Amino acid sequence: MLVRGRVLSFKRRPQGAGDAAAYTYLEDGVVVIDAGRVTEVVDAGEIGRVGGKGVVLHDFSGKLILPGFIDTHIHFPQTQVIASYGEQLLEWLTRYTFPAESRYGDPAFAAAQARFFIDELLRNGTTTAVCYGSVHKGSAEALLAESERRGTAMFVGKTAMDRNAPPEVLDSARSAHDDTAALIAAWHGRGRQKVVITPRFAITSTPEQLEALGSLAEAHPDCLVQTHLSENLEEIATVRRLFPERADYLDVYDHYGLVGPNSLMGHAIHLTPREVRRMSESGAVAVFCPTSNLFIGSGLFDYKGLEGGPHPVRLALATDVGGGTSYSMLATAAEAYKVMQLRGQKLSAIEAFHLMTRGNAEALGEPDLGRIAPGAHADLVVLDSTATPAMAHRLAAGNGDIEEELFVLMTLGSERNVCEVFIGGRPQGLQQTAG
Ligand code: GUN
Ligand code: ZN
Repeated sequence: MLVRGRVLSFKRRPQGAGDAAAYTYLEDGVVVIDAGRVTEVVDAGEIGRVGGKGVVLHDFSGKLILPGFIDTHIHFPQTQVIASYGEQLLEWLTRYTFPAESRYGDPAFAAAQARFFIDELLRNGTTTAVCYGSVHKGSAEALLAESERRGTAMFVGKTAMDRNAPPEVLDSARSAHDDTAALIAAWHGRGRQKVVITPRFAITSTPEQLEALGSLAEAHPDCLVQTHLSENLEEIATVRRLFPERADYLDVYDHYGLVGPNSLMGHAIHLTPREVRRMSESGAVAVFCPTSNLFIGSGLFDYKGLEGGPHPVRLALATDVGGGTSYSMLATAAEAYKVMQLRGQKLSAIEAFHLMTRGNAEALGEPDLGRIAPGAHADLVVLDSTATPAMAHRLAAGNGDIEEELFVLMTLGSERNVCEVFIGGRPQGLQQTAG
């Protein structure tokens, strides 16, 4: 099977705007796909060689073909929490989030929500996401089953929380361990699905629960761990009260063996110098969630300080829906740019698109995701940069440079720019259903 269009893929992390050696860009390219994977990426001049009788061609000439976007932090049970008014983190959790998540104990409800959730990700060009379920094991199962049905690669955790929340959304140290272990046994590495060890955050886990999950992480070194870290000042003060014997917030997770190269630390805004050093040394990933950080009023992530400081920290980008306000990685990149503007930092379009694709794949340790190159999974997004009148009008005054186009795309873009998505080489038919 062939997909023709303008093909963009990253070879490495760009150093900043204009670093054209970091990516490959074919003005008229063809992605050759076999058995769900990319086998070749060639210039359209070679279409005669790679095509021929019986080879299906999806012709998106003029459109941009990118690796499907990867969202490294999103909450599956918060699709009806998004856009909830007026609170900062701890009140927002109590008032909106815990009640919404309590409904996911109902398997039929969870299954219906999983269909909506994956539809919405695909509509936005996101083909892989790292997801928090609710506290209920069944919520993770519903999402994993739906993802398997679609053929997407999803990373899903049952959220563990055994204190400081209403009883309907609490588990125990033992049940969190056993439910997560059962999920791993049933689902981790089944097809394209993976299970993530998911303590919600230090406030809602007892030391016993963190210890149980730390031992699970030790037993499953190929599982990612995800949690929240230093998002909000009141949260940090609470963690200090709950764990007075620990050096700082990161040290709580570290003490229980939850900090390492497989760890995705959501937010990581208000870090101390010691925490930055330890993040760097451990290889843990700081996950930047700009729409959430602005919407919940949490603070301004220090992207360049973490990326390029004396103790460089691995970075990823994510929506954090429902604290985040958009499922679109394009809109997320736009807000990342604005957060960085407020800190006097610059986020070039190619750095942003690298992050949404290959950069985020590397944060997950998944070299076969996030790029369009031989051997990679054929998860693709096809984008029309001129999908809206305002974007077409803006680009009509552009200089035709791909980096300028990408910047317009991230600044003004949304799901309206997504023409089609391919999952393991299979078109999802978004064009027919769009409207
Ligand atoms: N910290 C603990 N739980 C959550 C959550 O659901 N969303 C966000 N943004 N932060 C959290
Ligand atoms: Zn979150």
